[in-house]
Amino acid sequence: MSAPTLSQYLLAKQHSLPVVTPQLQELLMQVSVACKAISVAIGKGALAGILGQAGSDNIQGEEQKKLDVLSNDIVLAATENSGCVAGLASEEMDDIYHLPAGAKQGDYLMLFDPLDGSSNIDVNVSVGTIFSILHKPEGKNSVTTEDFFQAGSKQVCAGYAVYGPSTLLVLTLGDGVDCFTLDRELGEFILTQTRMTIPVDTREFAINTSNMRFWEQPVRRYVEEMLAGQTGIRGKDFNMRWVASMVADVHRILTRGGVFMYPFDLKDSSKAGKLRLMYEANPMSLLVEQAGGASTTGRVRILDIQPTGLHQRVPVILGSKNEVELVTGYHLG
Ligand code: AHG
Ligand code: MN
Ligand code: MN
Repeated sequence: MSAPTLSQYLLAKQHSLPVVTPQLQELLMQVSVACKAISVAIGKGALAGILGQAGSDNIQGEEQKKLDVLSNDIVLAATENSGCVAGLASEEMDDIYHLPAGAKQGDYLMLFDPLDGSSNIDVNVSVGTIFSILHKPEGKNSVTTEDFFQAGSKQVCAGYAVYGPSTLLVLTLGDGVDCFTLDRELGEFILTQTRMTIPVDTREFAINTSNMRFWEQPVRRYVEEMLAGQTGIRGKDFNMRWVASMVADVHRILTRGGVFMYPFDLKDSSKAGKLRLMYEANPMSLLVEQAGGASTTGRVRILDIQPTGLHQRVPVILGSKNEVELVTGYHLG
């Protein structure tokens, strides 16, 4: 038998995994439709006039690109009337998004980063979409922002699409990590890799070293020891990679291992980190842990953090388990 489509895969999972309800199945199909639409838009690029700035800022003071806004609209359009969600939240919306009047409320809440790696859009480098799905708290009619404040360990499902040479969808339903490739002729995501596993050891790290002067001592020590190579304390040479699209960097780590860091730094004391907990760090941390890796802030497990803000930022250190444990150990002294 040929490899299953996403819909065939979800149908089969409905029998083996109790978390896979018909509503979750439908929601994931709608998310996949949105990812296909974003993939098509990105593929057209300048031909569709979608590159460049939108002329607006998001709540985090970042300039929005046209594709940030377009991708946000595509995900909303695919999910708001699906009957599967009770509320949505995104990097590009200040507050939670309430469903249109008359739309049927579903059992789930979804947070998303519609377009991750915005700085790479205009230079034709891989970008992606990240999503995190939570249960709507039981017995509530209207959804509040606080309902979204659930620790990452409560996620029902997390995933991302990466728009690279191929468009991929990577998914966890809390039982391992599987990867689908978009067959552009069929218009279907086809299962191409099951049980993605991150090797516990690695010789590759990813960090934006232009921030080195702002790092704390434990990260500085860790990176210096890797840079010292074979004759240093680590006794081996390391390679460095930094795409500046978290989806692409995490996808490389899920594929062949590595350690990714956007650590705490002293660049801007009002920010705990650069990446956002609820729609970047949490979904990626669940995927990484499900693939046998680890994810911390340097001090605590990311999935244990009790959120207090929709757009709250956290330091992120994730990937190959032994490396994450080593640098976390340096923080904890
Ligand atoms: P976004 O485009 O959604 O704002 O996220 C960008 C993030 C992340 O994808 C990436 O790892 C990081 O920003 C890159 O930061 P630098 O530009 O500081 O390297
Ligand atoms: Mn992002
Ligand atoms: Mn984004």
